[in-house]
Amino acid sequence: MNTNETGRFITIEGTEGVGKSTNIEFLCNLLESKGVDIVLTREPGGTPLAEELRDLLLKPRDEQVSQDTELLLMFAARAQHLANVIKPALERGCWVISDRFTDATFAYQGGGRGVDYDNIQTLERLVQHGLQPDLTLLLDLDVEVGLQRASARSVPDRFEQEKLAFFRNVRSAYLQRAENEPERFAIIDAGKGLDEVQQQIANVLNNFLDN
Ligand code: TMP
Repeated sequence: MNTNETGRFITIEGTEGVGKSTNIEFLCNLLESKGVDIVLTREPGGTPLAEELRDLLLKPRDEQVSQDTELLLMFAARAQHLANVIKPALERGCWVISDRFTDATFAYQGGGRGVDYDNIQTLERLVQHGLQPDLTLLLDLDVEVGLQRASARSVPDRFEQEKLAFFRNVRSAYLQRAENEPERFAIIDAGKGLDEVQQQIANVLNNFLDN
């Protein structure tokens, strides 16, 4: 890989139980087999401080968490992640693969909680200074199927405790964003069998590498 070039930034998004982990592993193996240096990371999280903020955000609690608190903590974690991991890696010429990024804020805080998109955009400008993913894979799946898969796997976190209607709104917000930015997004039908899902991902990646 030519390290004089800045790296590319790929994000993976979707509602609960869509198979992000398995497919991110597949994506990383594919990129590494093509000689790409990658940094795999996640949001909220990716640095020690941002991982602490993740724990605060995901931990179920009796106290009502205000929408603004949740929004600001997401962007606080993101600012730290960008400064200490994402930007330095891209500058070194590495490709950054992030399990979620700002589309998740538009989908969960915007679509799910009903936070005004203008407020999210204001924080996005403040924290990202125009930096956007080059490619976003949206793993799309019926939310009921996804939640069943997720609940079979672990004790629900603060987000997973939300009702079905919340996740339906999250999914719609993701799909709306994908429709608005078709050149950045690739929608992957995560309801298909694993081989077929990974074939879709490989096709998207090969197209991306050719351009
Ligand atoms: P996950 O990474 O294991 O999917 O869990 C992260 C949770 O945090 C998931 O429920 C989505 C949520 N989240 C937001 O609500 N807003 C965000 O901006 C991000 C990055 C995640």
